[in-house]
Amino acid sequence: MEKVILTGDRPTGKLHLGHFVGSLKRRVELQNSGEFDKIFVMIADAQALTDNADNPEKVRQNVIEVALDYLSVGIDPAKTTIFIQSQVPELTELAFYYMNLVSVARVQRNPTVKTEIKMRNFEQSIPVGFFCYPVSQASDITAFKATVVPVGEDQAPMIELTREIVTRFNHIYGDTLAMPEIMLPENQVCMRLPGTDGQAKMSKSLGNCIYLSDTAKEVAKKVKSMYTDPQHLNISDPGHLEGNCPFIYLDAFSNDGHFEKYLPEYKNLQELKDHYTRGGLGDGTVKKFLINVLEETLAPIRERRKEWEQNIPAVYDILKEGSEKAREVAAKTLDEVRAAMKINYFDDLDLVKEQSKKYGN
Ligand code: TRP
Repeated sequence: MEKVILTGDRPTGKLHLGHFVGSLKRRVELQNSGEFDKIFVMIADAQALTDNADNPEKVRQNVIEVALDYLSVGIDPAKTTIFIQSQVPELTELAFYYMNLVSVARVQRNPTVKTEIKMRNFEQSIPVGFFCYPVSQASDITAFKATVVPVGEDQAPMIELTREIVTRFNHIYGDTLAMPEIMLPENQVCMRLPGTDGQAKMSKSLGNCIYLSDTAKEVAKKVKSMYTDPQHLNISDPGHLEGNCPFIYLDAFSNDGHFEKYLPEYKNLQELKDHYTRGGLGDGTVKKFLINVLEETLAPIRERRKEWEQNIPAVYDILKEGSEKAREVAAKTLDEVRAAMKINYFDDLDLVKEQSKKYGN
């Protein structure tokens, strides 16, 4: 069986460090591992519109931002098909058929959708399209016969629903769809990088993100204002690591080489942590080190982004070619789906014969 990856992002904002540790870094590794037959990365503009119907310009602007972010982290269009969801109309068709296989109650139980409904104050009037996006996500995944879906843990309910739909579809209509597996981030830090204010998650609306496209100056400023330990008033005070942002970020980004290069007084992160908890280490030192560490990751990304920014037509060409390629694959699956569902009237030559015979000719 082919090994196929599909994943994607809603284009509602630029991508940030949370996206980087939570998914982008892994995608590039998977892409370069050579272990997969096909890799699809989708810019989910149609899904973004499910709760931004009145703001299409926002979605349109962010399609190119997300594409630039992808290219600058090293997603390589020669190895990965980058495409725009709305440009593959087969996905919408497939979602329409899947809606018959899922109950309203089943979607209502989806914890991620529940949280999102609360966050958006949708309780009184949930757009039908938004409510159904988990079903449409099942079509995104299965249209490409994806076997592996690398996503954050908040997406687990979507993959679970997709698996249920696959089971149901194959049971009713015969073996047609591939069963996908979720691939979660490897470790706890990557699962969820907190915002610079110490909130559980980086989120644009909270203004606590470090963006991949931030300048070095912006990054330094954000790190300097990071939430640390409110009880650590004097350098000599013992500090606490729990919820201490710079240390959490160092967990995610630093290695021993960084210490040798930027902070040779310490061999590794453990020594730095020990000193901090003992007392006598100031937040400023930790933050300065973190700025250097982050720049090791961010500087090359920023450089590559600048290059692509100088060639926007090429970026749109990549998206167009990717969308065409994705459409071919999805169309093939849809042919199989229509045949399995017996709605392939004009491709099924036996149908005319069968009906003619029924009427005695
Ligand atoms: N829901 C995903 C997000 O919020 C985006 C997405 C849409 C997706 N379709 C997908 C992710 C299919 C993985 C597979 O970012």
